[in-house]
Amino acid sequence: MDGVAPTVQQANKDLLRFLTCGSVDDGKSTLIGRLLHDSKQIFDDQLSELTRESTRRGATGDEVDLSLLVDGLEAEREQGITIDVAYRFFSTPKRSFIVADTPGHEQYTRNMATGASKADLAILLIDARKGVLLQTQRHSLICSLLGLRHVVIAVNKIDLVSYQANVFERIVVEYRAFASELGFSSIMAIPVSARDGDNVTRRSDHTPWYRGPTLLDYLETVDSDSETNEEPFRFPVQWVNRSTPDFRGYAGTVVSGHIKAGDPVTVAASGQSSRVKELLTYEGPQPSAETGDAITITLADEIDIARGDLLVGPILGPEVSDQFAAHIIWMSNQALIPGRSYLARIGTKTTPITVTGIKYKIDVNTREHLATHTLGLNDIAFCNLATAAPVAFDPYEQNRKTGSFILIDRLSNHTVGAGMIAFGLRRGTNLHRQATLIGKAERAAQKHQKPAIVWLTGLSGAGKSTIANIAERQLHAAGHHTMLLDGDNVRLGLNRDLGFTEADRVENIRRAGEVAKLLADSGLIVLCCFISPYAADREMLRRLVPDGEFIEVFVDTPIDECARRDPKGLYAKAKAGKIKNFTGFDAPYEAPANPEIHLHTTGQQAEQLAERLTAKLAELGIIR
Ligand code: ADX
Repeated sequence: MDGVAPTVQQANKDLLRFLTCGSVDDGKSTLIGRLLHDSKQIFDDQLSELTRESTRRGATGDEVDLSLLVDGLEAEREQGITIDVAYRFFSTPKRSFIVADTPGHEQYTRNMATGASKADLAILLIDARKGVLLQTQRHSLICSLLGLRHVVIAVNKIDLVSYQANVFERIVVEYRAFASELGFSSIMAIPVSARDGDNVTRRSDHTPWYRGPTLLDYLETVDSDSETNEEPFRFPVQWVNRSTPDFRGYAGTVVSGHIKAGDPVTVAASGQSSRVKELLTYEGPQPSAETGDAITITLADEIDIARGDLLVGPILGPEVSDQFAAHIIWMSNQALIPGRSYLARIGTKTTPITVTGIKYKIDVNTREHLATHTLGLNDIAFCNLATAAPVAFDPYEQNRKTGSFILIDRLSNHTVGAGMIAFGLRRGTNLHRQATLIGKAERAAQKHQKPAIVWLTGLSGAGKSTIANIAERQLHAAGHHTMLLDGDNVRLGLNRDLGFTEADRVENIRRAGEVAKLLADSGLIVLCCFISPYAADREMLRRLVPDGEFIEVFVDTPIDECARRDPKGLYAKAKAGKIKNFTGFDAPYEAPANPEIHLHTTGQQAEQLAERLTAKLAELGIIR
C-alpha cells in the first residue's frame, strides 16, 4: 500500500455517478458507447482508479473492491437477487464517471432502484420521433422517489427529425410540465444524435439553435452532490474490535459528514455520549476522517456500543423510532403481506420488521394512489412499518444512506424489497411496556406448571382439533391448567373480519399468536389448532415466546386422506369449485421442516396420537 491519501481525495471529489434510462430502441447503448468511445476511455484507467478508491475505503494491498462499481443496494448481490445493471467507469481530465446502465425490460423497477439508489443524476433518453412516453414518466417517478436531484433529457435521434428546433422544444415543454411535481432541482434538455455524436461530446453544426453545453460538458460541470461532508456526521458501527483486553474500537465507514479526534459523538439509540480519542486506519492514527472513509474509532469513555449502532455528531441528530412510514419497492415474486415478519437491514443494523399497513400503491404510469392489501413484483407503495426494536434513521430526503433499508425474507434470506424512509411515526414512542407486579413466572408457579404454546398445524381435516381436544382432556385430568384456541372458533369471534387470502391468513395467525402469548403469560399451557399454512408465520410465532416455550406439532395427514374423511364437507365443496383459496387445492400448505413433534396420522387412532403428544410434552419438560 503506497501513499494514497492525496490522489484519493481528488478522485472522490470528481466522481459523478449517473444512470441512463430508456430502452435499446431509444439509443441508450449507442449513447453510452459514444460517451465511452469519445472520451477515449481505456480499460487500464478503470483499474487504477478502482484500486485507488478501494484502498481508500480500507481494502488491503492490491485487492480491488469491484463492488465499488456496484454499490447501489449492495446487499442484494450476496443475497441472491440477480440484478441486471451494468456499471461502467470512464474518466476525462475533469471528472470520473460511473454509469449505471439499467435495462428497460419488465424488471425495470428493481434494476432501476439499484442503479438509481446512489446516482447523482439520471439521463432520460427520449426518441425525438416519439416524444415523452409512459416509460419516460415511469422512470422519472422512480428517479424522483429514489432521491435523484438532477435529470438530463437527452432528446435523441434529432437527425431523424431533420434537426428541427420546434420538435425539441415541444418535447421539453411537455416533459417539464409533467416533471414539475417530482421535485428535481435541475432538468437539462439536450438535443443529441447518439449515432452521429451530435452534442454528445462535440457541438453539432446541425443544431445552431441550441446554445447549451454538450452532454459531456454538462456531465463534467454539473454539481455532483456526492460530497456529503457538509451533512451531519453518521457512522454505522460495523463491528466492535476488541483485539486486546484494553482496546475497544468501533470499525465502520463514515456514511456522511466528517469527524476529528476530540469531537463529541453520541450513540443515537441510547443517547450516551463521549469524545473521539483516536481515528485509526491501516496507516495508523489520522487527525480526521470524512465521508467514505473506512476507520476505527476509539472513544474517551467506556460506553455501551454494539454492531448496528449509529454514532452521530452533536447537531441534527437522527430520529429514533420503532415505527416509520416509507416508500417500498417490492422486488420479489412472492407477495409482500402486511403482518408478516421480515428482516430489515438499516445501515449495519438488522432487525425484525413488519409492514403494519399499506397506505397506498403508486400506479407508476399515472401516479394515482391505489388501495391494495398486498404488493407484487415491482410494486411501489407507501407503507407504515414497525421494527422489533427502535432504530436510528434520517428521512431519505435528508440522507440516502441512513434513510434507506432493504427487506430480507427470513426463510430464504433473499433481499425482497428496498425502502426509503419518509418520517418516523410517534405511535410507539409514547407507549411503554408496563411491568406487572405478578408476572408470568408467579402465575405459572401457582399452577405448578411451565407455560407453553403447543401449536398444531396441518391441513383442514388433518385431525388437529380432535387430537388437541383429547390431549387437553388428558392434561386437564392430570391437574394442568390449559386453554384451547381453535381456528374455526377464533374466526367466529375476534377474527370474524378475516377470510382466507394469504394476507388474511397472516393476520389470522398474528392475532391468534398474540392471544396465545397472553394466555401463556397467564401461566397456561395453550393448545392451538390452526392450519397456519405459511412457514414464515409459524417462525414469527416461535419468536413471540422464550426459547423452548413454542412447540410446533405437525399433524401430518395426506390430502387424499383429509378429503376422504372430509369432516365438514369442505373438500367436496372445494372440488366442486364452491370454495376459493382452499388449502391444498388452490392455496398452499408449507409443511414444517423441523417440528418439535411430528404426528403421522394415517392408520392411527386419535387417542394414541394424543397420548404421543402428551408423552412428547413430558419429554420436552413442559409437563411432569
Ligand atoms: S388458517 O389458514 O388461517 O390457519 P384456520 O385454521 O384459522 O386457517 O381456519 C381453517 C378452518 O376454516 C378450516 O378448518 C375450515 O373449517 C375453514 N375454512 C373455510 N374456508 C377455508 C379455506 N378456503 N381454506 C381452509 N380452511 C377453510
